[in-house]
Amino acid sequence: MPLTDPLHPIAAVTHAAPYDYYRRLADGPPLRFDAVLGCWLATGAAGVRAVLEHPACRVRPPGQAVPPNLAGTPCGAFFAELVRMNDGERHAVPKQVLARALGQVDLARLQGRVAHLAGDRVPGSAGQLNAALFELPLYAMADLLGFAPAQWPALVAWTRDFVACLSPLSNGAQLAGAQVAADALLQGFSVLLREGTAIPGSLLDDVVSGARQAGWHASGAVLANLAGLLSQTCEATAGLLGNAIVALRAQPQLVPQRGAAPQPWPAMLREVSRHDPAIHNTRRYTAQDADLNGVLIPQGQLIVVVLASACHDASVYAEPGRFLLQRPGLALPGFGHGRHVCPGQSIAQAIAAACLQAWAGALAGMPLAWRYLPSLNARIPVFSPGEMT
Ligand code: HEM
Repeated sequence: MPLTDPLHPIAAVTHAAPYDYYRRLADGPPLRFDAVLGCWLATGAAGVRAVLEHPACRVRPPGQAVPPNLAGTPCGAFFAELVRMNDGERHAVPKQVLARALGQVDLARLQGRVAHLAGDRVPGSAGQLNAALFELPLYAMADLLGFAPAQWPALVAWTRDFVACLSPLSNGAQLAGAQVAADALLQGFSVLLREGTAIPGSLLDDVVSGARQAGWHASGAVLANLAGLLSQTCEATAGLLGNAIVALRAQPQLVPQRGAAPQPWPAMLREVSRHDPAIHNTRRYTAQDADLNGVLIPQGQLIVVVLASACHDASVYAEPGRFLLQRPGLALPGFGHGRHVCPGQSIAQAIAAACLQAWAGALAGMPLAWRYLPSLNARIPVFSPGEMT
């Protein structure tokens, strides 16, 4: 039976086959009001760029630095410091420090290290795969930051519990767990900092020395943004890795022969990030009236920025529905654009490449089915035992 279209872009995130719908959105006007959602939509490459480049389009609603349900809580204090959640001065310098430190990571070394970690943890079942999608990226980041392996499982649990506070779908118990986790994460990072156990040359060391040089002295903010590197890694990288595994199901010929060189993973992961991206949308709020591609959007409006529609915009990507390894190396809308563009793209792709290198052979023989974790913006498959495709 043919699938019905998603009702709106939020429903599209976890829909089994949303990309015809996204392509139609990309073909339509770049900015439009969606009566079902009661907010504006920015679609296609032009709409997404116009909003993400406009100075009046901010990451938080005017006068509301923290969501009301988190105000005055440990999660709220953490949230308020994150570069992702700030504009202006509280964004620019911290972003520069993080981007520079992340840009210095030795990607070949990272990939080698993660291939080793992933090789010791090849999933033997759908349940193990679901856990590993989250664990390996977070182990890789915890390792880069300078945490000892014995600390990694607790960091994974706290990060997964913390990110629940970022989703309006979370229930009271999840929000309560997120508060405990926010405290535990910040505590873990402050111990690592205080005891000076961070290995010189670790990512943590680079961020702290970069902050000092840039005159970013707010120690609470540095701490929150260090922990924020784990929360930013968590769901998005699990989504990239999971969607790559889904792509290998549809195209088993992409799994290389053992020892094949060069490895196909970088090109394959770029195309997964375009064809079936992990992050489908983000949000902006107008701080003033804004003229966006000739459409006047009043102050105080919510705009859902449909990144996934830009990934399937035929004016940018020829035959956007086809999975093609050879495409021009254009920027990938699924990693954002403009001042808030993701500084972790290369790291995420190196981690995912290493995991695929270690797991693709074993996964090729494993019967798997999947659906998607409930989410308003992230597409993360949850696997179960299934038929071979
Ligand atoms: C496949 C994996 C990833 C995807 C798809 C992804 C996607 C994104 C997107 C779309 C944004 C911009 C959000 C917006 O403008 O509203 C973003 C921001 C960010 N990402 Fe990533 N990300 C990934 C992995 C990572 C990793 C591994 C790190 C850390 C090493 C990271 C760190 C950040 C940070 C710090 C920001 C905030 C930047 C700012 O606000 O200026 N991300 N990411």
